[in-house]
Amino acid sequence: MHNITLINGDGIGPEICDAVVKIIDASGLKINWDLQTAGEDVIEKEGTPLPKRILDSIRKNKIALKAPVTTPIGKGFRSVNVQLRKELDLYANLRPCKNLPNVKTRFDNVDIVVVRENTEDLYAGIERQVDEDTAESIKIITRKASERICKFAFDYALNNGRKEVCVVTKANIMKLSDGLFLKTYREVAEDYPQINTREILVDNLCMQLVQKPEQFDVLVLPNLYGDIVSDLCAGLIGGLGVAQGANIGKDFAVFEPVHGSAPDIKGQNKANPTALLLSAIEMLKYIGEFSYAVKIENALYETLKSGRCTVDLGGKLGTKEFADEIIKNLN
Ligand code: NAI
Repeated sequence: MHNITLINGDGIGPEICDAVVKIIDASGLKINWDLQTAGEDVIEKEGTPLPKRILDSIRKNKIALKAPVTTPIGKGFRSVNVQLRKELDLYANLRPCKNLPNVKTRFDNVDIVVVRENTEDLYAGIERQVDEDTAESIKIITRKASERICKFAFDYALNNGRKEVCVVTKANIMKLSDGLFLKTYREVAEDYPQINTREILVDNLCMQLVQKPEQFDVLVLPNLYGDIVSDLCAGLIGGLGVAQGANIGKDFAVFEPVHGSAPDIKGQNKANPTALLLSAIEMLKYIGEFSYAVKIENALYETLKSGRCTVDLGGKLGTKEFADEIIKNLN
């Protein structure tokens, strides 16, 4: 029995969570879901969208599945997502991007895993106003953070049957900062002779991704390039409804879809649960439940092939009915 924190979020969060939990429970895998409400719905009662009980629960269970949470604009609350990453030191952002059956895109055979460093680079937030007409933002790259993210990428490749880890930088221009990331990658790569290496500049990568994306396997990038490239790759496989993600650290891991809380379709049984389900499938692989992960993945693929899916993917079903179809295909 696994103990997993379930943050059901707000907006469409509770609907897609119900669907995904129902599918996983129907697969036969025993999970003790530790439900933790978060976001807009708890602010009034608890004074914050991320009460301490949520962090306590993740610290206890180590693993969380998280639905999206609204970041209230102009109310002074920090983003729940950013806080979680900081508090739990979730230094790796993992974004597998793979074509799904019947989801129409420009390319077939996309199967890329983007590994983004989550803690430094221009996101360190060190900025200053030099004078009225000049602002400065400082890019921090350290050996420690570069080393652990490169190791993470190579370990992921090794444990998931991947062949290559390609490092993405602009080290020809930012010779010191991106240069350190690249140098560290080369050093780490020496410990993984089974995995092929490749180096590419981020501008060339973007052009190649929109021309021949099937040539890429695992990508490892500093924070800013990783942010941009992971959304580009999500676009390659069909966009928000199908883009999964995870934020992983040494001790804890939080699996969550890329999309937000979609307030425009909240409570209408229209939301596509696929991105959260794919995140959950990745979570099952992470905790070693490969056979259940594959069983649920196959059921999802069968259902998508049949075209019996949500409206955003060209089907006619609601969230609940789509989940029921997936459950029917579990075998
Ligand atoms: P969004 O991703 O919530 O919605 C953008 C568009 O995509 C909307 O038209 C929405 O209906 C559609 N969409 C998104 N997910 C869908 C799904 N599963 N099925 C069908 N359609 C879907 O982005 P938006 O509107 O910019 O953000 C809304 C809120 O979500 C904001 O408060 C934002 O801060 C928060 N957010 C939270 C994230 C998280 O918790 N990880 C990530 C991104 C945004």
